[in-house]
Amino acid sequence: MGWNSWNKFQCDVNEEIIRRMADAMATNGMKDAGYQYINIDDCWHGQRDAQGFIHADPQKFPSGIRALADYVHSKGLKLGIYTDVGDKTCGGRPGSRGHEYQDAYTYAQWGVDYLKCDWCNNDNLNPIGAYTTMHDALLATGRPIVFSICEWGVNKPWLWAKGIGNSWRTTTDIAPCFDGIVDHKTWQQFCVLRIIDAQKPLRQYAGPGHWNDPDMLEVGNGMSQNEDRAHFSMWCMLAAPLISGNDLQDMSPDTLNILVNKDVIAVDQDPLGIEGFVYFTNNAVEIWFKPLDHGDWAMCALNRGTDPQSISFDWKNEKVMDDLSSHNADFASIIYSLRNLWTKQDVGDTSQPLNAEIPGHDVLMLRLQKKM
Ligand code: GLA
Repeated sequence: MGWNSWNKFQCDVNEEIIRRMADAMATNGMKDAGYQYINIDDCWHGQRDAQGFIHADPQKFPSGIRALADYVHSKGLKLGIYTDVGDKTCGGRPGSRGHEYQDAYTYAQWGVDYLKCDWCNNDNLNPIGAYTTMHDALLATGRPIVFSICEWGVNKPWLWAKGIGNSWRTTTDIAPCFDGIVDHKTWQQFCVLRIIDAQKPLRQYAGPGHWNDPDMLEVGNGMSQNEDRAHFSMWCMLAAPLISGNDLQDMSPDTLNILVNKDVIAVDQDPLGIEGFVYFTNNAVEIWFKPLDHGDWAMCALNRGTDPQSISFDWKNEKVMDDLSSHNADFASIIYSLRNLWTKQDVGDTSQPLNAEIPGHDVLMLRLQKKM
């Protein structure tokens, strides 16, 4: 859980912004809710020196990354940085190709705790080889550094990246929109639903320490409150990394309330680390279930459409079986209490049918707990 500069600031990043985001995270409730990493994305780089060592852009980061890491650490937070397997990043800055060990060493010296490694200008490198080299380089530093593979899912990293990275991007970049794509002609960005759909066949590949990454959050970056809530809820149902991507010093109370909802975050951070799945679909509504620790379940009814949808769910006729994890819930024989994770109200139990109306592009999210 953390924050990353890209979705809001793109290449306009500097040490002042990074310090302000660390200040905000440490004091606005996000740190208490579990957010930890402050990640600088592309465009922090200056040049390599005569010995090949990379330096930060002296205009944007005049104090250097080491001082910034010290500052972020002084807030009880951790610092992330960004590179690329190619010789240039997506933003045209120096990439790590041929400098993997030297760069990993530099990051460790600076006190970096997290590395995102991109796939631009890869020059047809073998992705397994390229990311293994950077993995080995990080390991050789002796410093624990989370390794986030950003290969956009093109070479099916879920099949090979466990043991190389701690997470791997599964798709192209997210955009702050709920439905559809953003077409840039040479490349596309996906809106929230498109990304969710791409995760459906991938749940078997993720687990603690090796996660599918459906990309950073767009909460607070322009979608409606309903859409932000649905986006955040579904990332939690997917046990996804929760990397916020908005301006943490300039957000509405509604945005902050979404980002720090501890009940919803607990679904994401559940120790079992099992991704949710679609139990059934009715018109525009998908009913997702996610097995949780101690026999609990999360249920999330996602209204993909723009019109409100009524749902009626008679629990006693339902039996949720997860073949992958062998967790089952037979509502005919076991009664669960229900808590609405967004209204934070207890809403009865599974002995009574559930009737609800879900606004367009919104969710109903419940936690189920076995009754004694
Ligand atoms: C790629 C990545 C993004 C971001 C940019 C930076 O598009 O997928 O997440 O890091 O590069 O240039």
